[in-house]
Amino acid sequence: MTDDRTHVQDFFSVRAADWDSRFPDDGPAYTAAVEDLRLRRGDAVLDAGCGTGRALDALRAAVGPEGTVLGADLTPAMLETAVRAGRDRSGALLLTDVARLPLRDRSLDAVFAAGLISHLAHPGPALRELARVVRLGGQLALFHPVGRAALAARHGRAITDDDLRAEPRLGPLLAASGWRMDAYVDEDHRFLVRAERVG
Ligand SMILES: C[S@@+](CC[C@H](N)C(=O)[O-])C[C@H]1O[C@@H](n2cnc3c(N)ncnc32)[C@H](O)[C@@H]1O
Repeated sequence: MTDDRTHVQDFFSVRAADWDSRFPDDGPAYTAAVEDLRLRRGDAVLDAGCGTGRALDALRAAVGPEGTVLGADLTPAMLETAVRAGRDRSGALLLTDVARLPLRDRSLDAVFAAGLISHLAHPGPALRELARVVRLGGQLALFHPVGRAALAARHGRAITDDDLRAEPRLGPLLAASGWRMDAYVDEDHRFLVRAERVG
């Protein structure tokens, strides 16, 4: 596990400073994905693998000043970039592995996770930990601003059903981790899976 964490930190540390400038046009897609989560004012929501905090302002707007917004990430440099951008004003930042969250059982209404799932060395335990901290009936959104086929083409690969984000793999993985997949969208400009926390 330690090696996995070091690998993630090494990968993202060198990308943290210019992360936002690499993807300058993603803002509206993040806002739309957050709106799909149908948060209510006063809700408590976690941005899991928040990185530089690109979703935090939209999450704060959704839950209002009376709500709770947390951002959790394993890579200090990503969180430092979030702070430099002032995004810690929208949410409290936690330096932690999403597979070991310092949060009470069922203390959240929802989890938003953008670009996280493909970087998890052990997705099952992480999804189970996210389920632990969300109340029954609460929501999970797994989002990416680029769909699987478009992302694979960008990297010169083909998509296959082995990909963790492929519906035949992700549905059963979510089901085994305390989530029921309610929506699966994989388009060029949007990958968005919504799941509900079930008993
Ligand atoms: C592709 S980036 C996405 C960042 C941000 N959500 C965004 O959309 O811009 C993935 C992020 O997940 C974080 N990450 C990967 N594995 C993690 C883990 N096990 N626990 C917490 N954060 C993790 C990385 O440090 C990185 O910041």
